[in-house]
Amino acid sequence: MTTVAEVSPDDTQAYGAYLAGPLGHCIECHSPMGPMGPDWREQLGAGGLAFYGPWGVSHSANITPSNLGEWTDEEVKLAITDGLRPDGAKLLPPMPFSYYKNIAAADLDALVAYLRSLPPK
Ligand code: HEC
Repeated sequence: MTTVAEVSPDDTQAYGAYLAGPLGHCIECHSPMGPMGPDWREQLGAGGLAFYGPWGVSHSANITPSNLGEWTDEEVKLAITDGLRPDGAKLLPPMPFSYYKNIAAADLDALVAYLRSLPPK
C-alpha cells in the first residue's frame, strides 16, 4: 500500500492529475507498456494496451489531445461517465465508466483540464 500526498482541489490541473493517476487509474490503463513496465515518461496517455475478455479484445484509447483534441469537454465527460463516444458507440470493457458514473462535476472538470494538458501522442 502506498500513499500519495493530498492535492488541493483549487489547483485544477494538478488535482486532475491526482484523479487520473492514483485515484482513478486512467493513466494505468491508458498508457502502453515499455521495456521497463508502463511507459509513463514517453507515452503517457497514448493508449494501446490490449484487454482480452468475453467481449473479444479491446485496446485502450489515446486520451491525449491528439485523439481528444476535437472532442468537446461535454463529449469527453460523457465518455468517462456513460461510456458513450461522440459517434454514439458504447465503449467496450474494461473502460470502467459505470464506476465513474457519480464523479462530481468539479472533479470531471479537473480530469478534462488534466487530459487537455497532456503532451499529444
Ligand atoms: C481498466 C482500464 C481502464 C481504465 C481504468 C480507464 N479506461 Fe478509458 N478506456 C479503456 C479501454 C479499453 C477503452 C477503449 C474501449 C473501446 O475500444 O470501446 C477506453 C476508452 C476511453 C475513452 C474513449 C476514447 C475513444 O477515442 O474512444 C476515453 C475518453 C477514456 N477511456 C478516458 C478514460 C479516463 C478519463 C479514465 C479515468 C477516469 C479512464 N478512461 C479509465 C480502459 C480503461
